Amino acid sequence: MEKQFGWTSKDLLKGLEEFVPIYETRPIKNNIYGMGFDHSFGLWFIAKWLKPVLMIESGVFKGHSTWVLRQAMPDTPIISLSPRHPGKYLKKGPAYVDVEVLIFFDDHQNELKRVKQALNAGFRHLVFEDNYDTGTGDHYSLRQICDQSYIRGGGHSCFRDSDEARVRSKRKLFWEKAVDIDELCGPNEAWWGVRGWMRDNFNHSNKPISYAEHFQNSRFIESTLDVYWELPPVAGPSLTHQTRYDPASGQPVLLLKMVVMACSSGWD
Ligand SMILES: C[S@@+](CC[C@H](N)C(=O)[O-])C[C@H]1O[C@@H](n2cnc3c(N)ncnc32)[C@H](O)[C@@H]1O
Repeated sequence: MEKQFGWTSKDLLKGLEEFVPIYETRPIKNNIYGMGFDHSFGLWFIAKWLKPVLMIESGVFKGHSTWVLRQAMPDTPIISLSPRHPGKYLKKGPAYVDVEVLIFFDDHQNELKRVKQALNAGFRHLVFEDNYDTGTGDHYSLRQICDQSYIRGGGHSCFRDSDEARVRSKRKLFWEKAVDIDELCGPNEAWWGVRGWMRDNFNHSNKPISYAEHFQNSRFIESTLDVYWELPPVAGPSLTHQTRYDPASGQPVLLLKMVVMACSSGWD
């Protein structure tokens, strides 16, 4: 009888002893409409007993059950499904968002839009593929956003008789993705984004932006990021045989087309 479920009353009592001090540390003390002590213990105990490789919860509310699952299985991925993000409850009091999540974006969407969406949802660790240079690519990238006159190596002039124009036309002879000054600059000398456009969704949904907006986007990104890191080339072109990008084109930062960053958020 005792072994009917695979665990015994003794196991439950032992679990309870372990769980009580854990429960004391719960971040959400008022979980009315959500689980209380008994059911939290039950969920914790079963998760710990089964040791699943993936946990999926449907119905999150402020995130208490996410927290319970995380206490039971510190390293197991959790997929939380709920119409309202638990972070939304932070305005009214404590909530729990499982932040050890890494999101990898290779979806060719405006990266500013993706950063805002990810921050709103409480995610902090983001990786972007396709960090296009100014004047290239099918979506507005972090690299484009950070291309600003006030950042060293950033900002451009559309003056055709300039050192930059000469370097660009030379580079075009050797590198497939190089952009000369005529390609860089659109009407009214708009060089930011792609000729003054914020591209989105594989270049299917684009919006013109003013220089002032472009500038504000950079200030916003700066204010939200703790760390912004661009993966440098792992080796020179003679070893990798890549012929698309000039590794010297992106001084002082950047090189390969991937960005890793961790964002600050309001949740912790
Ligand atoms: C009782 S609360 C969950 C409490 C939470 N598990 C806890 O113990 O703290 C129910 C949650 O289900 C969410 N919900 C409503 N419809 C849903 C649906 N179709 N699929 C998943 N979650 C849904 C609600 O928004 C609410 O956050």
